[in-house]
Amino acid sequence: MKKKLVILSGAGMSQESGIRTFRDMGGLWEEYDISEVATPEAWARNPELVMRFYNDRRKQLYECQPNAGHLGLVELEKDFDVQIVTQNVDDLHERAGSLNVLHLHGELKKARSSVDESLIYEIDGWELKFGQKCAKGSQLRPHIVWFGEAVPAMDDAIPLVESADILVVIGTSLNVYPAAGLVNYTKKGTPIFVVDPERPPMSVRNVIYIQEKAGKGLEILKEKLKSFV
Ligand code: APR
Repeated sequence: MKKKLVILSGAGMSQESGIRTFRDMGGLWEEYDISEVATPEAWARNPELVMRFYNDRRKQLYECQPNAGHLGLVELEKDFDVQIVTQNVDDLHERAGSLNVLHLHGELKKARSSVDESLIYEIDGWELKFGQKCAKGSQLRPHIVWFGEAVPAMDDAIPLVESADILVVIGTSLNVYPAAGLVNYTKKGTPIFVVDPERPPMSVRNVIYIQEKAGKGLEILKEKLKSFV
């Protein structure tokens, strides 16, 4: 029986693929005001700006490829039951070949009904347009969890972390809740690895910190995990 390796990934996971993080130097929230592009109020007030913000990010995503960090996680599936819980809305984990990916904050390449969040659609190409409607006739919106909205995927993410034999936190500043709170759900004594050039604040103990970017960090992590196989 393979041990369960749960990964909590954030924007740093995709940084080496050319996708901007949020709170680093040059991060997205340096250029855009969250309240202008990533809240339900923003969508109500200026849907064109919000739509353009996500269309631009989706267009850029088509030019990006998974990096060595994503691929390193796929290799770990040989020896572990790898479950990825990501805050990222890109599809790079899936494109790298990861089989079990749970998106906490939605998916950039999908759209959803504005009146029924269970109605979710793949977006054909990079552009979501006004006039594209759901089966109930409402305008499609980005399938993204905006600030202030519920994070339904937490109901599945918490049991995953609770059942983890090992937790690995990669490329997240642990600034945004409830996602950041997941690190507190591990069973007592569960080893926690952190891969990040800057150590994120964590109240939990027995953290093994790998001060590297994801690409290099995964090489080191794979070595360290050999003793857990
Ligand atoms: N490899 C690993 N980690 C990296 C790399 C890299 N190449 N580059 C940057 N990092 C780290 C940074 O040091 C930082 O700790 O990635 C983290 C990025 O933090 P944020 O930009 O805050 O991204 P994230 O934690 O994913 O944000 C969480 O906030 O804006 C919302 O919904 C959005 O999902 C996002 C959430």
